[in-house]
Amino acid sequence: MAQQRIAVVTGGMGGLGESISTKMADAGYKVVVTYSPSNTKYKSWLDEMKTQGYAFGAYPVDVANFDDCAAKSARIAQEIGPIDILVNNAGITRDMTFKKMSKADWDAVMRTNLDSCFNMTKQVMDGMVDRGWGRVINVSSVNGQKGAFGQTNYSAAKAGIHGFTKALALEVARKNVTINTISPGYIGTKMVTAIPKEILDSKILPQIPVGRLGKPDEVAGLIIYLCSEEAAFVTGANISINGGQHMY
Ligand code: CAA
Repeated sequence: MAQQRIAVVTGGMGGLGESISTKMADAGYKVVVTYSPSNTKYKSWLDEMKTQGYAFGAYPVDVANFDDCAAKSARIAQEIGPIDILVNNAGITRDMTFKKMSKADWDAVMRTNLDSCFNMTKQVMDGMVDRGWGRVINVSSVNGQKGAFGQTNYSAAKAGIHGFTKALALEVARKNVTINTISPGYIGTKMVTAIPKEILDSKILPQIPVGRLGKPDEVAGLIIYLCSEEAAFVTGANISINGGQHMY
């Protein structure tokens, strides 16, 4: 790599985020993580990472809030440098059947999982286009592709992400900026292990041909590929990584 690229990983301390951040740092990127302003464990996470040799930049960002994204992205650009790579990874679930779902449950998931892609990408896109190089990876889900019981909000937000990816990919393709979606299946993170064990064992695991949950590092490896020079011809794609659970 000629110069050290700067990568921002939203939700970079979370289940998938930690793997993405550490693997990207291992691959030579300067990694900045964002974390939710309500995360009280950020300091101990950073300390633990330091003991493992990782020195991440870290900023509290409410990805659901456009103004906060604007303010913190400007700080990152000023204090660390121009953002070359954005991984829109932050996301939440509020799983419940549609019958029980309130407007607040809908809004929280749409804002955190979908609006966040606009809120963060808006801060970095002009710079990427001006510099003639950029990578945006939007983390969607198998459940945005196929739907999931108890996830009308989440499935809608995750499906929306790929529409965003495709449209923006068209607009910036000539500028050497790629925009891609990845759609992980059920990965062994807190989000998935929070599913009632009986549901996981009886309804979900039997649907995964590989016969196990995915590993966060497997998802991180795909993201590292998409950031590479070799991936310059991959744009507007939606890459599944789901153990064969859903093929299309
Ligand atoms: N498919 C078919 N039927 C299902 C089902 C499923 N996936 N999940 C639940 N049901 C059925 C139950 O068996 C039950 O049937 P009976 O009434 O006949 O017994 C009925 O639906 C009600 O189920 P619950 O008692 O569980 O209802 P609940 O209101 O307490 O909970 C729920 C509903 C919150 C949706 C719960 O079932 C659940 O957590 N399901 C898992 C949802 C899920 O897969 N979330 C993914 C999280 S991980 C993630 O999102 C990461 C990613 O990107 C992949």
